[in-house]
Amino acid sequence: MTTLSLSGLSLTLVGPSDEDAIREWYELCCAVASADYPDDPPPCWAHELGSFRHPWPGEVRAVWLARVDGSPVGACTLVLPTLDNVHNAHGDILVAPGHRRRGIGRALLAHLRAEATRHRRIRLISWVAQPLDPGAPDPAGRFAAASGAVPALVQTRRRLDVSTIEPDMLARLDTEARVCSKDYSLVQWVGATPPRWLDDIAYLAGRMSTDAPLDDLQWEEEIYDAARIQGRDTCWLGRGLRVITTAAQDRAGRLVAHTHLLGGTTSPWFAWQGDTIVAPEHRGHRLGMLIKVANLKLARRERAELRLIDTCNANSNTYMVSINEAMGFRPHRRAVDWQLGL
Ligand SMILES: CC(C)(COP(=O)(O)OP(=O)(O)OC[C@H]1O[C@@H](n2cnc3c(N)ncnc32)[C@H](O)[C@@H]1OP(=O)(O)O)[C@@H](O)C(=O)NCCC(=O)NCCS
Repeated sequence: MTTLSLSGLSLTLVGPSDEDAIREWYELCCAVASADYPDDPPPCWAHELGSFRHPWPGEVRAVWLARVDGSPVGACTLVLPTLDNVHNAHGDILVAPGHRRRGIGRALLAHLRAEATRHRRIRLISWVAQPLDPGAPDPAGRFAAASGAVPALVQTRRRLDVSTIEPDMLARLDTEARVCSKDYSLVQWVGATPPRWLDDIAYLAGRMSTDAPLDDLQWEEEIYDAARIQGRDTCWLGRGLRVITTAAQDRAGRLVAHTHLLGGTTSPWFAWQGDTIVAPEHRGHRLGMLIKVANLKLARRERAELRLIDTCNANSNTYMVSINEAMGFRPHRRAVDWQLGL
């Protein structure tokens, strides 16, 4: 274990086998979530533990716990892409609610900057949850702006309350989408990607990294192959996520569109919307709506307790936003990618 000293704080690198430190990290995440995001599902232990033991393919992640007198007061995370985007780093900072406005966040950011620079990264990107109401308290946005970062990609997180869906609504959306997509059939699965579809899913995953609007975010295409998709699936399953997928197949037998829903073990009533993408040459056939409606129906059958689904889209992504609004998703929060030149 590496211990650093920084402005009176002790900083400890958390290792994958140090379950006590991972537990402290998890408790810090829970304290921050209940103070700042009380209407969101709480952090999931299986997911947090799994995040140390089942790394995301194509990146290296380091988490440091900050302590004062032995007690955790904050944490920071650095993620370094290794296969593409090798000039970028992702950073994340948490400060315990009772220890804020004392310069701990600033000290943790200085540490992330130094570490990212040491690894030859030229920018630090952070995904920050912010309120919809511009007049509401926004410590994270104020902190990011004070650090000199710029808001490069502004997204809105929308939420669907599945229990409020009108009985006829999904049937109507499904019928409308099918009229325009007669040349396609649906393929669905739960869990890891079946081997026969790995190459098609790799193509779609790569397109996803740049086809969704990035606005001013400096992010290059991610390189996916079958092995990286298998690594991604292993990571999801190792973190306790149940992944529900619907894809569209064209007449030639290729998968040309797909969408995922991901649910954790702690809150079976909640799921995250994962990627939704239609290959460029197959757009304009309502495939986006077709696969999302079909996947929602499958998810309701697979997870009887499912009540809330959250999705996040760039404000400039008008096509995806219009599908989500038609399905009943409504704005819940802003999610902004802040970018800091190093
Ligand atoms: C954002 C967060 C990390 C800030 O931590 P912190 O230790 O309170 O930050 P610092 O004391 O170092 O503040 C540095 C500067 O940020 C700005 N700032 C931080 N909190 C602020 C607030 N509530 N209101 C206005 N400005 C604020 C100020 O400019 C501050 O400098 P100052 O105190 O000299 O005026 C903390 O609120 C937090 O953990 N939030 C939840 C998790 C999160 O959103 N993290 C951001 C993702 S990277």
